[in-house]
Amino acid sequence: MKRKLTNILVTGGAGFIGVNFIRFLLGEGSSKPDYKGRIINLDALTYAGNAASLNSIEKSFGGTRYFFEKGDIGDHAFVEAVFQKYSIDTVVHFAAESHVDRSILGPEAFIKTNVLGTFTLLDVARNAWKDSAGQIRQDVLFHHISTDEVYGSLGETGYFTETTPYDPRSPYSASKAASDHLVMAYRHTYNLPIILSNCSNNYGPYQFPEKLIPLMVLNMLEDKPLPVYGDGKNIRDWLYVEDHNSAVWTIMQNGKTGEKYNIGGENEWENIKLLNALIEIVAKKSGKDVEKIRSLITYVKDRPGHDRRYAIDCSKLKKELGWKQTVSFEEGLGRTVDWYLSNREWINDIRSGEYQHWVEKNYGVR
Ligand code: NAD
Ligand code: DAU
Repeated sequence: MKRKLTNILVTGGAGFIGVNFIRFLLGEGSSKPDYKGRIINLDALTYAGNAASLNSIEKSFGGTRYFFEKGDIGDHAFVEAVFQKYSIDTVVHFAAESHVDRSILGPEAFIKTNVLGTFTLLDVARNAWKDSAGQIRQDVLFHHISTDEVYGSLGETGYFTETTPYDPRSPYSASKAASDHLVMAYRHTYNLPIILSNCSNNYGPYQFPEKLIPLMVLNMLEDKPLPVYGDGKNIRDWLYVEDHNSAVWTIMQNGKTGEKYNIGGENEWENIKLLNALIEIVAKKSGKDVEKIRSLITYVKDRPGHDRRYAIDCSKLKKELGWKQTVSFEEGLGRTVDWYLSNREWINDIRSGEYQHWVEKNYGVR
């Protein structure tokens, strides 16, 4: 039976996946999910968040079905007030520090947001969702968004399943693993109705241009070096962001309480092969010379502790809940490049301020 979800708190709704999730749920994506309730977007607007990404949503639904609350998930009193103000019955928790390179250079923010922030949200939910007899309600849901990186790194063969032991290897993945454990502990200890999903690499519109695909697209357009870490043969499993969000929505509605589900693209690419495919697409769409772009490829020092290969087995989600990917890599990359070609204002906006300062300080101009 489908869960009834009416007042959904989306944390991190001004970031890459959160923005796409809100647009998807309110019918601005290519699929039209059946949702009639409200969305409350709680986001601290760090360097990675941009409230303007949801201007059209604000225009169509602001004050009726869409509400924005700026604040930190680690601020107990603030989160509690938001729960009360909107009678929150569902949490979908995207907010996080999400970039591995940043976690290597400065892990503290990852512990604060990903570990302590998740703890605060869980604890507010545990207190807010008690019935008159003091029992935790079971008609509510805390959906925690996690990553395949908690499982560590694979060799040439094999896949991460829901029972693969955790083996996080960067401060980012360790902080996400800690948050996953807290979520599971709140289920076992307090009977909080939770679900967890662990997804592979996402790509698509509104992704902050520090992550591989948007960084490379923009550097190609701006004739800047294309920095490939190590030998370029690390493998990632890529999924179009709308397919991730349709999986999350399927799980939120029909997933079993207390369970975890892996989400993946079943679409493994070596970084260097992906970069070459992307170069062809950007050249075709921008009119730039393909060989000139290719000459920008620059092998640089490897990321410390760089995980070699990620690959998700998402057969549980497919078999039990009937989800499947709908956007091919070719189609998804094409849509993504088109989006970055036609959203210069968004790019300038998100790159202003702290981002440019941080990138220049840590990497030089890229
Ligand atoms: P992102 O970095 O683009 O966005 C994160 C958002 O969280 C931003 O809007 C930011 O302002 C907000 N935020 C950060 N700290 C906060 C705090 N203390 N309080 C409130 N808001 C805060 O991240 P993303 O790529 O959209 O990832 C979203 C979630 O999905 C994360 O939990 C991440 O671990 C997970 N995930 C991401 C991917 C991927 O490929 N991007 C894959 C699997 C899982
Ligand atoms: O697997 C899911 C994870 O995917 C998410 O949990 C993270 O939030 C998300 O950032 C992503 O992590 P990765 O480290 O895999 O993504 P990133 O885009 O940083 O890097 C992808 C691959 O490309 C990785 O092998 C490192 C490499 N890379 C990255 C950058 C930014 C380069 O070679 N050059 C670069 O400049």
